[in-house]
Amino acid sequence: MSSTTLITIMILVIFFFANIDVKASEPCTERFTKLIKQRNITKCKTLRTLGAEFGWNYYNITNSTTTLEILFGACFYSRQGWIAWGVNPGKRAEMIGTKAIIGIKSHDFATANSHLTVATYDITKETKGGCSLLPTNDSGLNVSHMVIQNQGSDFYTIYARLVLPSDKYNISRLNHVWQIGNVIDGRPLNHPTTLHNVDSTETIDLTSPRGASMGQYRSFLRTVHGVLNIIGWGTLLPIGVIVPRYFRVYPFKRDPWWFYVHIGCQLTGFLVGTAGWVIGLVIGHSSKYYIFHTHRDFGILIFTFSTIQMLAFRLKPKATDDYRKYWNMYHHFLGYGLLAIIFINIFKGINILHGGESWRWSYIGILICLGAFAFTLEIFTWIKFIMVKWHNHNNNRANQQNKD
Ligand code: HEM
Ligand code: HEM
Ligand code: HEM
Repeated sequence: MSSTTLITIMILVIFFFANIDVKASEPCTERFTKLIKQRNITKCKTLRTLGAEFGWNYYNITNSTTTLEILFGACFYSRQGWIAWGVNPGKRAEMIGTKAIIGIKSHDFATANSHLTVATYDITKETKGGCSLLPTNDSGLNVSHMVIQNQGSDFYTIYARLVLPSDKYNISRLNHVWQIGNVIDGRPLNHPTTLHNVDSTETIDLTSPRGASMGQYRSFLRTVHGVLNIIGWGTLLPIGVIVPRYFRVYPFKRDPWWFYVHIGCQLTGFLVGTAGWVIGLVIGHSSKYYIFHTHRDFGILIFTFSTIQMLAFRLKPKATDDYRKYWNMYHHFLGYGLLAIIFINIFKGINILHGGESWRWSYIGILICLGAFAFTLEIFTWIKFIMVKWHNHNNNRANQQNKD
């Protein structure tokens, strides 16, 4: 495969997955669409994390204010907890500095009754440090009609009207965040800091029909990381192993074609995979909240083992050399071990995404194709082996009878 074809395929696949990510954040569920219609809200989108949904209208735009009507929907983690939505007047969509509306569900375990409250809060640096979060009426947003409601099963919505001062908030670049957390004694406590929780931020254009989000460089880089790793380590390297296995000596002898295809696939796979791995390290390094230890360590093993395999370019003994059989053994052993770690790590990466079903099924599809190809060749090998043996056996018997 020429390098231009490979690059074209990679670009198409990256756009396919990037598009899936964008699409996933567009339409809202049927249930949420009904709820926004009841309130005459016209726009809505599924937020990219925590299964949250968001509907909005804006009107009364004067030079100094915009009135925003919002409906935010999410599920609590357990029988009690909090769900929150807020806007940040700062430069970035982040937690600190957010003016939030938090809906709390407290559960009385003695009477089995639940109690719902909703209020506005200022989220500050101290909040992150563990200071207790208390309601405030001084968020500078002029919030009214605030209500939290259970919409059946575990789904809850917060409705509110806010008057946003135009000098601080731009509705075509609004920083908003959302979150789900725990409570103790009716007070909002911390929330988990998984990938989904810390990804619950967005700069949204409320004037666009579907609330386009901006500056999602991180998710774009994750997509590039996933695609390069899947193509490099997860597809080209296994193809490069299938070729010597079936085309070097048995059942097909395609010398020296097998060797060129082997090193061609392994070298391209190594370069593409390494690019994906480096992007993984860069995004992993820049995310201060979490480290995916096993995924990262497996990544380091993959890079190390494949670099050792690549040393074959310089250190492979000649075919006539005494050490060649030991080199063959280690090269085979490390090669197959490497494939096993690669397969595991790709699924680990997909699991980190929580809900990367399109990724999972795409890679399972690739594995099924590779597996079917290898399986067919394996069956063919065995059939050929048995037939040759049978043929030799018959020849031997015929020779024996002739001698007798
Ligand atoms: C109740 C008290 C809260 C505590 C103790 C708390 C604590 C934290 C901590 C420790 C982090 C992790 C990252 C870091 O180390 O910087 C974080 C991130 C985050 N929190 Fe909170 N949080 C609280 C409430 C909230 C609320 C009410 C919201 C939403 C309105 C929210 C939204 C976020 C978001 C979006 C992030 C990830 C991005 C960022 O750091 O800006 N948090 N929080
Ligand atoms: C990440 C890179 C590589 C991996 C994962 C890898 C893996 C493998 C595997 C699993 C086999 C055995 C296939 C079988 O017959 O069942 C093999 C065979 C072979 N590989 Fe590689 N390989 C890599 C790179 C290279 C390079 C760079 C070279 C040479 C420059 C090379 C030369 C060979 C040779 C000569 C054989 C046949 C060995 C024999 O005679 O049994 N490989 N490789
Ligand atoms: C064998 C292939 C792969 C290797 C070697 C690899 C390697 C890495 C490395 C080294 C990191 C940084 C970890 C950290 O410091 O916390 C990382 C992060 C990550 N990887 Fe992979 N990865 C692979 C496949 C995948 C795949 C297929 C996906 C998903 C489609 C994926 C998704 C992720 C995600 C979501 C992160 C976290 C990024 C962040 O911190 O925001 N990885 N990967």
